[in-house]
Amino acid sequence: MTLKEDSQRPLSRELYRRAKQQLPGGVNSPVRTFATVGSYPIIAESAKGALLRDVDGHDYLDYIGSWGPMILGHADEEVVAAVQQAVSRGVSFGLATQAECELAELLIESVASLERVRLVNSGTEATMSALRLARGFTKRNKLIKFAGCYHGHVDALLVQAGSGVATHHTSSKRAPSSAGVPESVIEETLVLPFNDLEAVSQQMQQQGDKIAAIIVEPLPGNMGVVPPIEGFLKGLRDLCDRHESLLIFDEVMSGFRVARGGAQQLYGVRADLTTLGKIIGGGLPVGAYGGRADIMDHVSPRGDVYQAGTLSGNPVTVAAGLATLRKLLGWRDPQSGVDAYGYLERLGKQLEQGLQPLIKESGCCFHRVGSMFTLFFTPGPVHNFTDVAQADHSANGAFARFHRGMLANGILLPPSGFEAAFISLAHTEESIAKTVAAISSTLRDG
Ligand SMILES: Cc1ncc(COP(=O)(O)O)c(C=O)c1O
Repeated sequence: MTLKEDSQRPLSRELYRRAKQQLPGGVNSPVRTFATVGSYPIIAESAKGALLRDVDGHDYLDYIGSWGPMILGHADEEVVAAVQQAVSRGVSFGLATQAECELAELLIESVASLERVRLVNSGTEATMSALRLARGFTKRNKLIKFAGCYHGHVDALLVQAGSGVATHHTSSKRAPSSAGVPESVIEETLVLPFNDLEAVSQQMQQQGDKIAAIIVEPLPGNMGVVPPIEGFLKGLRDLCDRHESLLIFDEVMSGFRVARGGAQQLYGVRADLTTLGKIIGGGLPVGAYGGRADIMDHVSPRGDVYQAGTLSGNPVTVAAGLATLRKLLGWRDPQSGVDAYGYLERLGKQLEQGLQPLIKESGCCFHRVGSMFTLFFTPGPVHNFTDVAQADHSANGAFARFHRGMLANGILLPPSGFEAAFISLAHTEESIAKTVAAISSTLRDG
């Protein structure tokens, strides 16, 4: 059944009303409210492949993909079987297992700069731990981050952050993006415009000897997809080398999404530390941080940087992650024989080409890297957070109207203009053709 208008979701509306009595804002993560697209939450009932069903029985072609992890599509049979087997052996031991070792080996084999890795429970935990390690290793306190990049809700990184923070809070240049984050915590965090190497170079010249790390999404998806311009990442690498600061690539979203080796493989730049999440847990709660062995050897119990977790390396998560990665890396299109990344690129290109004539006439700007994409309601060019913010992101603005139109056409996009949409291996040429048609009619209807 296809949704025609919001009033056709009575059960969702009722559940949302109930949820608001118990959960802040009725949700467990802010962007799920759909408030900024002038709607109310999709309450999920189930999902299979590229389709998600809401509790009112509407089916949507899903491009949220649980915000990135579901690269195989939903309820993949091999992942489900691996999870069931793991559960039947015991859901948690709080002890080391063989499977976590296999997952670590697979991560290290895949991402060139990883020599050691530690599994944690979320992307937030991964970036928080990587920062502590960078500070402990360099014996310096200051950090550089970029406006519009989101690294989870780590206090020190909640300044001009992207994703839900950009969607729900206004953020001034020096103030924390969240109440409860003391000014003193972000005093050591310098925020610069993404893609502005000159600005980074100036800061490094002035205080490079105090900078523990530059942390960056090498391919930001949390202000929408904003690729690095030629030379930007390489420039960061050179500056870090010159000033003996660490370069942290936050690949929680881009890891295994744009290439087996992540954005660092795509752009040919090596990080000192990398954070991962999402895909590596196959949809269960996960994070990981890793990198150079000489740095990682400072992590407890080998070194003096403390970090621990009751459920870290949880056997069910690890089983889902291993099954997902093994299937992803061995995947071949039965017709053409291309691998997963070739197939996702083909679908992405089909979407891009289908939209090209339309984008020009509607004054939008479309960005895509592999299976990640965003439609910005601004003519562009879009190179940083300020450019993204030019678009009207209000609940009655162009993006919100577009989002509601797409829902009515059975297409589920992330409910914010500051997010990336994801194509999965369960999408097909037909899904993309349907999406192009829906975008065309939605944009034309205004
Ligand atoms: C690049 C990046 N880093 C960190 C995080 C935080 O991950 P989590 O939501 O698992 O804490 C996210 C989440 O979207 C992310 O996209």
